[in-house]
Amino acid sequence: MGQDVFQLVYLSRAVDGISYSDLSDILDRDREFNRRNGLTGILIYRDGFFIQLLEGGEAEVMDAMAERIRDRRHHHVQVVHEISATDRLFGEWAMAFHDGDLDADGEPGLMETLFQLAREARRPKLEIMTPLARLSRRYAI
Ligand SMILES: Cc1cc2nc3c(=O)[nH]c(=O)nc-3n(C[C@H](O)[C@H](O)[C@H](O)COP(=O)(O)O)c2cc1C
Repeated sequence: MGQDVFQLVYLSRAVDGISYSDLSDILDRDREFNRRNGLTGILIYRDGFFIQLLEGGEAEVMDAMAERIRDRRHHHVQVVHEISATDRLFGEWAMAFHDGDLDADGEPGLMETLFQLAREARRPKLEIMTPLARLSRRYAI
């Protein structure tokens, strides 16, 4: 049985001119922070938007979120869903990264579904966890 884990998903708009490789570089450095704080998850970049799933202890996730909101490399940060779960989806990943623009392999339509759901979310959107769970299977080690 897994330990209780808090999962938060947000959608944000990247600043003009940022490239996914910039973010990939940032995350390489920041994974150390995530490891120390028991945070896992995935950052997805597509077409100027980010979706990030943060998972860990509720306090750690909330602290990370407070940091993230201040980060000027993105804006219009909008929490799409928060939930307590028994297991992590990306437990092996201090922060996986997915370039949604290059989603040629794997499951057709997965990224469209994910971003569509996130953009439509006016209130907590449990459905968002389904495509994220599908995506996590591709990251299973
Ligand atoms: C979309 C996005 C995702 C980020 N994800 C993480 C992350 O998973 N872990 C992390 O430590 N920093 C992440 N950062 C960077 C943090 O917001 C912040 O810059 C970092 O914690 C360093 O903060 P500092 O410069 O005040 O030390 C992300 C930034 C952006 C724009």
